[in-house]
Amino acid sequence: MSLLKFDNLSVEVEGKEVLNNFNLEINEGETHVLLGPNASGKSTLLYALLGFPKYNVKQGKIIFKDKDITDIDIEERAKQGIAAVYQNPPSINIKLSNLLEKISKKNVKIEGIESLMQRNVNIGFSGGERKFSEVIQVISMDPDFIILDELDAGLDVENLERLSLLIKKQLSDKTVLLITHRGKALNYFEPDFAHVMMDGEITCTSDNYKKIWKLIEENGYEKCKTCKLSSDR
Ligand SMILES: Nc1ncnc2c1ncn2[C@@H]1O[C@H](COP(=O)(O)OP(=O)(O)OP(=O)(O)O)[C@@H](O)[C@H]1O
Ligand SMILES: [Mg+2]
Repeated sequence: MSLLKFDNLSVEVEGKEVLNNFNLEINEGETHVLLGPNASGKSTLLYALLGFPKYNVKQGKIIFKDKDITDIDIEERAKQGIAAVYQNPPSINIKLSNLLEKISKKNVKIEGIESLMQRNVNIGFSGGERKFSEVIQVISMDPDFIILDELDAGLDVENLERLSLLIKKQLSDKTVLLITHRGKALNYFEPDFAHVMMDGEITCTSDNYKKIWKLIEENGYEKCKTCKLSSDR
């Protein structure tokens, strides 16, 4: 059953069209990965999905759980069950433990981050500590749909494994969109579908993420413009 659908979505940021007739449908329980070169619009898709005001939808719509959410505000989207691990999460003047009290639907404990709980969110956190803070927030919210924007950036090898396995265990029946530049994260999440985004639109989709990743590693993204890989969907 379809959980999330981007239907011909065009999005403008600061006067620049970043998403261009973007189409993607994700069914309940599936894991998808979105690959693509820097500045192709991956994080913009996340911000448009979450409803950040600067990200102007010029055309098309976003359907979540059969409802058109294109024009509803950020808090309402979170209440509907959408959550994100941000590539560049903001710093907030509130203790992580207090924030979790406000947003938690379920209690989660990650060992070794007790001292972070007493600090203001992301202020002075190392790159990896930010990811721990992001992941504990997302798991606590118990969302139905999770978008992970470069979970792997800034995490060391052990912590990437630790957080990936934690997300998989805690959110095992959930629907996930992973955005990454690294093959390692793909192996933990084993996505059902892989998509390549170039200049704000999907140019290539496959149900074989290993094949797509190998082509990218061997040829870079340039070849994806003319790639003919496609799934049965
Ligand atoms: N708030 C903003 N103001 C101005 N330009 C923006 C803004 N948000 C995005 N853009 C521009 O939109 C384009 C796409 O950016 P986006 O962050 O979506 O790329 P990305 O695919 O996530 O790249 P990366 O892999 O480097 O994270 C870039 O040229 C970026 O500068
Ligand atoms: Mg990005």
